Amino acid sequence: MTVLTTEQLGVLARAVSRAPSVHNSQPWQLLVRGTEVDLLERRDVHLRRHDPSDRDRVLSCGAALTNLELAVRALGRDCHVGLRDDSDVVATVTIGRRRATSTRAYLLYQAIGRRRSHRHRFFHSRVPTTVQHALVAAGETTGVHIVRPARLDKLAQLLGFAARVLRDDRGYQRELAVWTAHTHGWDAAGDGIAGDALGPEPLPFAGIVRPGTPIPDDAVLADRLAGENWLVFCTDGDTRPDQLAAGAALERTWLTAASKALAGSVITQPLHLTGFRARLVSELALPGVPQAIFRYGYPAVPAAPSPRLPLGELFAPPGGTR
Ligand SMILES: Cc1cc2nc3c(=O)[nH]c(=O)nc-3n(C[C@H](O)[C@H](O)[C@H](O)COP(=O)(O)O)c2cc1C
Repeated sequence: MTVLTTEQLGVLARAVSRAPSVHNSQPWQLLVRGTEVDLLERRDVHLRRHDPSDRDRVLSCGAALTNLELAVRALGRDCHVGLRDDSDVVATVTIGRRRATSTRAYLLYQAIGRRRSHRHRFFHSRVPTTVQHALVAAGETTGVHIVRPARLDKLAQLLGFAARVLRDDRGYQRELAVWTAHTHGWDAAGDGIAGDALGPEPLPFAGIVRPGTPIPDDAVLADRLAGENWLVFCTDGDTRPDQLAAGAALERTWLTAASKALAGSVITQPLHLTGFRARLVSELALPGVPQAIFRYGYPAVPAAPSPRLPLGELFAPPGGTR
């Protein structure tokens, strides 16, 4: 196989496009060179207040990389992923010979279209232990550790504190408003967090704190946390490859959850507050640098899908990102 057909390109593009991303910014592009596909990080996407060091942007590219790899495997092709750390290219995916798609890869690929951010209460959260283990096993890899925090009271204290700081930070909330405002109306765009993805829910269900988000006191919050399932994704270091690996792991776990009728949402919002990650490490005795927090359970009804940019915008012109 030397050239990808339009249909095959469509399969890859749709899979990448459905990946989760910070504020649904979709900070990636694809550059197709024969049977090699570069995944590019769009550095023009910069969330100054939410993601000052662009960490979430790289995590998002990691999630897109998982989807790209699964799509190649779903096409019945071998796939080699080479991570890059020298330019806008975060990874080069080389599409190889024919190879039967494994059942596991196919199930995860199928879950790409069902995975959504579920910022609501769960119907129930009694997840069988084998399934809980499967979610951790799906994400864990060299350098990525996934922890089920034992001290949910401590996590509640920290999340509550961060939520109050962020709710009152006007500059932060202004930036968030821009990213939640433009998915509806005459100038609706294909990126940004959809208004109907964010209800009037209190923490922790809300997932993201806005000016009107109800923040319960620490005891109530701890109770609510105890009624859900929580995972913290940690890495050995905090370099771009570490963050990319964390994003890829997060998506493998999330898709595994979706393939088992579970729903979830990710929280990174508080991790960007100065000193927050250090507190989290010491209070929860984490084995590495926290990159993302994930909550999951069984949904009453699935969340609505959020918008995406037109697929045509996903392809970079030869020579780089837009
Ligand atoms: C790196 C990263 C950070 C995110 N941080 C948050 C967050 O703090 N709170 C939240 O509610 N959602 C968060 N999300 C979820 C995105 O907002 C969501 O993926 C995006 O709006 C697209 O919606 P979808 O997941 O339903 O496809 C994050 C996603 C990624 C990949």
